[in-house]
Amino acid sequence: MIQQPLLITGGAGFIGSTVVRHFLAATERGVINVDKLTYAGNPESLEDLASHPRYEFVHANICQREAMTQIFARYQPGAVLHLAAESHVDRSIDNPAAFIDTNVTGTYILLEAALDYWRKLDKSAQARFRFHHISTDEVFGSLGATGLFREDSPYQPNSPYAASKAASDHLVRAWYHTYGLPVLITNCSNNYGPRQFPEKLIPLMVLNGMEGKSLPVYGAGDNVRDWLYVEDHVRALETVLNKGQPGETYNIGGYNEKTNVEVVELICQFLDELLPQSPHRPHRSLITFVADRPGHDQRYAIDAGKIACELDWRPRETFETGLRKTVQWYLDNQNWCRRVLDGSYRRERLGIK
Ligand code: NAD
Ligand code: DAU
Repeated sequence: MIQQPLLITGGAGFIGSTVVRHFLAATERGVINVDKLTYAGNPESLEDLASHPRYEFVHANICQREAMTQIFARYQPGAVLHLAAESHVDRSIDNPAAFIDTNVTGTYILLEAALDYWRKLDKSAQARFRFHHISTDEVFGSLGATGLFREDSPYQPNSPYAASKAASDHLVRAWYHTYGLPVLITNCSNNYGPRQFPEKLIPLMVLNGMEGKSLPVYGAGDNVRDWLYVEDHVRALETVLNKGQPGETYNIGGYNEKTNVEVVELICQFLDELLPQSPHRPHRSLITFVADRPGHDQRYAIDAGKIACELDWRPRETFETGLRKTVQWYLDNQNWCRRVLDGSYRRERLGIK
């Protein structure tokens, strides 16, 4: 049987571009990447795949209903992996509107277009179809010193970003319970790896450290995040897509709890090793404690027992091996970083000023 293509939203972003790469390499399926190309979406992350026979890029905004309806009709996808979102907490504090538009309204519009399409499929295609919503552990709020987020933890989002993702999770769940759309929801912890926009903690620290700029750690640096290498996340998404039960939620995490200052110190150690001639050694001397993020969640930690027991997924990468590879990738791809930061590709490809 010929498998219908996967429709991936947000495939030009950090996790989405890893998803596109993975499914093209690991399966025979076609991959349709629907992306608006915001500041965070970079087609250069997929440049080597531009002429791949099973890959197609569609420049579109998930908030536009007509465009989404046409995309479903034209490509007849067998599944949707919905990653398109505004993803950065600090930006959501400064400008929540874009987060409500894309994360809440955009998810609603995509659900509506998917439901209309799904209702017209024959029974066996309906049974195979999946709408997989990729979400975050931030919907569960903040933990104290102990405890883990489980699938049945209460939703207590604290930032505008987290609240918008919580709203989108609720919409997806409602489209299953009310209309029967076969949905899957995954809530994952902090990802790291190649091609992450250098506003997030790890790439920002690598680039600043390399250039001898200060390394701004919020507050006391004792907030804890549970880090997962992006390729482990993507393997988890494939596992849930193939084996997950419609209507179910799965938590994904790395069992890698670190304080922010521990993360930054390890990056500094790798920079010292990988840049032995750098005038900025020891890089840890660049660490600067700055004003805290408003409403900063203290600790995130995931209980990934359900996906391990029911679907047999576990992370492979240790934090040390994954972080070393990541630091090396940023050192080796400074042109990617420069062009994504100064927006060159947006001006050249999209004519956006
Ligand atoms: P990202 O910011 O790197 O990429 C987001 C992508 O979505 C970009 O390519 C952007 O152009 C696209 N996009 C934004 N608005 C759009 C719109 N209206 N229409 C179409 N495309 C649009 O984000 P990321 O870090 O790769 O995260 C991807 C998804 O995974 C998000 O839904 C995020 O909430 C979730 N998630 C991220 C993490 C993490 O640590 N980064 C962890 C858990 C869950
Ligand atoms: O938990 C999953 C979430 O992880 C995802 O849903 C989000 O999309 C993703 O951005 C990420 O959110 P965080 O806020 O945890 O990631 P960020 O890289 O922005 O920050 C990680 C921690 O580091 C956080 O405690 C804030 C701190 N930080 C961040 C930056 C950018 C600093 O101390 N200094 C900084 O300059």
